[in-house]
Amino acid sequence: MSQEPLSIVVLAAGKGTRMRNGRPKVLHPLAGWPLVRHVLATARSLEPERLVVVLAPGMEEVAREVRARAPEARIAIQDPPLGTGHAVAAAREELAEAGAVLVLYADTPLLSRTTLARLLAARAEADAAVAVLAIRPPDPSGYGRLRFSGDDLVEIVEERHASPDLAARGLCNSGVVAFDARRLPLLLAELPLRADKNEYYLTDTVALAVARGWRCRAVEAPWIEGLGVNSQRQLAELERLWQERRRAELLEAGVVMPAPDTVFVGADCDIEPGAIIEPYVVLGPGVRIRAGAVVHSFSHLEGAEIAGGAAIGPFARLRPGTVVEAGARIGNFVETKAARIGAGAKANHLAYLGDASVGAGANVGAGTITCNYDGFAKHRTEIGAGAFIGSNSALVAPVRIGEGAFVAAGSTVTEDVPDDALAIARSRQETRPGRAALLRQRLQKRARPREAG
Ligand code: UD1
Ligand code: CA
Repeated sequence: MSQEPLSIVVLAAGKGTRMRNGRPKVLHPLAGWPLVRHVLATARSLEPERLVVVLAPGMEEVAREVRARAPEARIAIQDPPLGTGHAVAAAREELAEAGAVLVLYADTPLLSRTTLARLLAARAEADAAVAVLAIRPPDPSGYGRLRFSGDDLVEIVEERHASPDLAARGLCNSGVVAFDARRLPLLLAELPLRADKNEYYLTDTVALAVARGWRCRAVEAPWIEGLGVNSQRQLAELERLWQERRRAELLEAGVVMPAPDTVFVGADCDIEPGAIIEPYVVLGPGVRIRAGAVVHSFSHLEGAEIAGGAAIGPFARLRPGTVVEAGARIGNFVETKAARIGAGAKANHLAYLGDASVGAGANVGAGTITCNYDGFAKHRTEIGAGAFIGSNSALVAPVRIGEGAFVAAGSTVTEDVPDDALAIARSRQETRPGRAALLRQRLQKRARPREAG
């Protein structure tokens, strides 16, 4: 990439009313990440000198997400939002004076680093005042159209002002634009207020630059990269495209996925070649699956790490903080949270393991529950290596089951169990010979109609 200093402005001040659910648009999830997080990650991958996010007043929740994902970013407030040109002007003071300024939209999450680098390189090479990322979407409605004279871009015309010919044949404005940082302030200062919408259009910078005799360029990108989200329908469509693209990469790399269309992959899932993902699996954000692990059908994982040789599911739910070590086995209807399952350990059926560690080779019986929450705080359960937890046991945390210890089925364990000890914590069984038959007679008699008695 070029060595020129880079400032990136991410526009996110729009209200997103067309999402129709009151939630800020850019916090809607795509592949488990808020939209804005995708754009911030791509922006940061370009290692800009300055990163500025433009928000409208009151967008506190978005500001929190920005601070969490890009602590170095500055937040500029556009008050009130008066269009895309006005939004970039709101960020002006935070931008470097030289180099390039790249404008991104927080609601356009499929952009790749490669494409942006190509746009920046093209702008620098042509010494263009403005370079626009162009796309040809199958449905171009709503996009501004690019007008050219030879190789030079001369104008961006918003769709409703475009001639039928331009509207039908023109390349579309993705919204991503790179500027020469020195010339940008002069262009912003000249933007006219568009009376019909009471907005300053960033797109008007092109005609203004051309009027000053400055060159403008367009660079075409794969159309899906320029797709923006304006509605729930478009968000779902982007999700489909994102998933398709990611699954193709994983298959190409050697991940085994016999029914890829049924697998959902979170934004930052790291799945090694040779891992096996069966049909109908949801891998939420932060999942890591090593080569040789298998995730059986209908399992739901988030923030979990699975080592090679481990097997998960079918029908397992692994929540954040779960680490499953080599060769361990998590079976059906087992839920884990903040739990480390040691090498070769097994929890094969119907269990809850929360805030727990299970030592290597331990066996957790069906129906075992770690009682980790007392209504106020969470407590830890430790199960030593080689321990055996009998079925239907309640382990009331904080509690430690020693290495090689044995907990009898049906126990409610409230005290630590030393290594190699046997704990039985249930009431003793009472067996009364013949009493079942007697009881049955009595019950039958009671059920019989009155006249018989
Ligand atoms: C804009 C472009 C259009 C392009 C399209 C691509 C203009 C005038 N039009 O239209 O040529 O084809 O994007 O998607 O630029 N925003 C602010 N402050 C504002 C207004 C918008 O920060 O005052 C932000 C929004 O949050 C959003 C982005 O700018 O992230 C685009 O705004 P939007 O209103 O969706 O622009 P379009 O009408 O789609
Ligand atoms: Ca838009």
